[in-house]
Amino acid sequence: MTAGRRPLIAGNWKMNGLRDEGIALAEGLKERAEGLSLACDLLVCPPATLIREVVQTLAGSVIVVGAQDCHAVRGGAHTGDISARMLRDAGCAYVILGHSERRNGHFEKDADVRAKAAAAHAAGLNAIICIGESEGERDQGDTLRVVISQLSGSLPEGAEAGNTVIAYEPVWAIGTGRTPTAEDVAEVHARIREGLGERLPDSQAVRLLYGGSVNPGNARELLNVENVDGALVGGASLEADDFWAIVESRL
Ligand code: PGA
Repeated sequence: MTAGRRPLIAGNWKMNGLRDEGIALAEGLKERAEGLSLACDLLVCPPATLIREVVQTLAGSVIVVGAQDCHAVRGGAHTGDISARMLRDAGCAYVILGHSERRNGHFEKDADVRAKAAAAHAAGLNAIICIGESEGERDQGDTLRVVISQLSGSLPEGAEAGNTVIAYEPVWAIGTGRTPTAEDVAEVHARIREGLGERLPDSQAVRLLYGGSVNPGNARELLNVENVDGALVGGASLEADDFWAIVESRL
């Protein structure tokens, strides 16, 4: 973490949580945040079915709400999809885009992620653009090339620190309990920062999150790596105690 960038700790609930569970989790986080003056921004990204409930539960709290995906167009005949404007209208401030579970499970390409990010920006949402290498790419020593190629392909025109966050999530680290070493994260994040410098005017102000098996035990080390400005947390964001322990490692 470098001075000047306010860290962001984000929880990605993925396809988890029925109404009561989601509300209870949001309430638990709201209680923990009450009255604290936090040194970082907090975000939860529930499934779309719970966005309104969680927005209402977190009203008056510093914790903001985001979504996990959006469609690239404003509206129309797209059965099953949700537009960025709808998410904004429901109370979202952020949307996660290009998560590897979308890239792999829904065949999203960089161009799709770029179009979605442009739609998010047009709707007034912050886009959290996820990039990261697979295990095979890592084994071949291809991590930096893959990550920079995804970065270039996924950033829309007009991306800047005020509307874009980058999350480096090695695919092999997501949900596996395995993480890169602090040195590896530092190398990749430094390269991403450099890559942003070639593409954005205010690259030094853009927040770079690390994601992939962040938990209360490793958060302090990972969040203190240079150029790591927060975390995107999956599994450990589903328990208020675990998520809060991660938040506290940045307070
Ligand atoms: P994980 O997921 O923390 O469960 O590894 C992170 C993510 O997919 O964003």
